[in-house]
Amino acid sequence: MNDSQYWTDRPDVASRPTEVGLLLPDVNLTLTTDRGVFSADRVDRGTRYLLLDGPGLPTGPVDLMDLGCGYGPIACTMASRRPDARVWAVDVNERALGLCRANAAAAGLANVEVVAPDDVPEDVRLAAIWSNPPIRIGKPALHDLLARWLDRLTPEGTAHLVVQRHLGADSLARWLDDRGWTSSRRGSRKGYRLLDVAARIGPPADAATGPDVTDGASADGGDRRSGEDST
Ligand SMILES: C[S@@+](CC[C@H](N)C(=O)[O-])C[C@H]1O[C@@H](n2cnc3c(N)ncnc32)[C@H](O)[C@@H]1O
Repeated sequence: MNDSQYWTDRPDVASRPTEVGLLLPDVNLTLTTDRGVFSADRVDRGTRYLLLDGPGLPTGPVDLMDLGCGYGPIACTMASRRPDARVWAVDVNERALGLCRANAAAAGLANVEVVAPDDVPEDVRLAAIWSNPPIRIGKPALHDLLARWLDRLTPEGTAHLVVQRHLGADSLARWLDDRGWTSSRRGSRKGYRLLDVAARIGPPADAATGPDVTDGASADGGDRRSGEDST
C-alpha cells in the first residue's frame, strides 16, 4: 500500500477486505483489515513488539488509549487483557475506525470505544496510552498529536510508543524530554525503539520558545546519529 494513504480520513483506494492473525502468548485473534489502512497485510512488526514487550497494563476500571488504532490490533489486545478497563481506540481514518469497531465486536470485546479524536470526552483521563504513532504525518503534526494526548495522562499514567529508529525514535525521545515528559527506552529490537513516557508534572514546557531538538532528524524524520539494537 502507498504509505501516503493510511492516515487520510477517507482512503480513496477501493476496499478489499482480508484477514490477518494476531497470535500472542495470551491473545489469539483474527482481525479484518483492508486496503487504505496501515499494515493491512499482516500485523506490523513494531506493533507486535509493543504487544509482546510492553509493560503490564494498569488494573481496575481505568481509561486506556490506543492512539492511532488502525484496524485495532493494539486496542483489541488491551481490551482483552483488561476487561475491566475502557479502551479508547482513536484514529482519523474512517475505514480503520470501522474495521477496529468490527474487530472488537467480533472478538466480543464490549469495552472498546472506537472514536475519532474529537469524540473522546474532555473529562477522560488516561491511565495508559499505547501507540504505534503515525510518524509519517510529519514532525509538527506528530508533536501536536502527542502533546494533545500525553497531557491527558493521569499523574501516574504512562505512554508506551514503538517507533522505528530510522524514522526518528531517538530525536522524538529528546523532544519529549525537552518538553517536560520523561522518556526512557524500554527496549530496542530490529530497528524499533520501545519508549516509555511518564506524564509531565506542572505546566507544559513552552513549546513555542524551546529549541526544536528533533532538528537532528533528516528530512524523512530519520535520525542522523546511529544507535545500537539489542538484536
Ligand atoms: C502506524 S499506524 C498504527 C495503526 C495500528 N495501531 C497498528 O498498530 O496497526 C498509525 C495510525 O495513526 C493514525 N493517525 C494519523 N493521524 C492521526 C491523528 N491525528 N489522530 C489519531 N490517529 C491518527 C493513522 O490513520 C494510522 O492508522
